[in-house]
Amino acid sequence: MPQRPGGVLISREEIAARVGELGRAISREHADSIPLLVGVLKGAAVFMADLIRAIPTPIAVDFMGVSSYGVATRSSGAVRLTADLSMSIEGRDVILVEDIVDSGRTIHYLRRNLETRHPRNIEVCTLLDKIERRQVELSLDYVGFVIPDRFVVGYGFDLAGQYRGLPEIHVLEES
Ligand code: IMP
Ligand code: MG
Repeated sequence: MPQRPGGVLISREEIAARVGELGRAISREHADSIPLLVGVLKGAAVFMADLIRAIPTPIAVDFMGVSSYGVATRSSGAVRLTADLSMSIEGRDVILVEDIVDSGRTIHYLRRNLETRHPRNIEVCTLLDKIERRQVELSLDYVGFVIPDRFVVGYGFDLAGQYRGLPEIHVLEES
């Protein structure tokens, strides 16, 4: 059945306010070092762009690419690295920046991968947490919003590559 963006789950104003709070929290917790924010492509690119502007203290930025979805709205379970960091993270405070944690497999995979490179610390910041669907145990350090088990699009979230540019977060609707 065809699907399209339905009602707004989280408005631009709500997103902006919460991203501001997350940015200030990250700044407070990292007053003693320059953390490296690692955005997880592609979904977190929009969130990352807003988040880094909400952190008033010095940070560094890098990206990793992963692919776990095909064209479906359910994860395949397998995580594939599509782009790697451009710098060493040895001895650094790393903050993984994700769009959404669903089963938890992507973050679990990324955390294990980064641990082998000997950072000082790894934290996770996610805009959305679909906690009902968790399959692996994870600790999340900064969470924007906990959402119900609905597929969302907009603000970086896509369905088969579409709708990332919508400024608000919508639930997907059967049409
Ligand atoms: P996990 O590995 O199951 O935690 O899946 C995480 C990834 O699945 C996210 O980074 C998203 O790319 C994708 N994903 C999960 N739920 C949604 C959704 O509702 N909309 C769009 N992408 C989603
Ligand atoms: Mg993602």
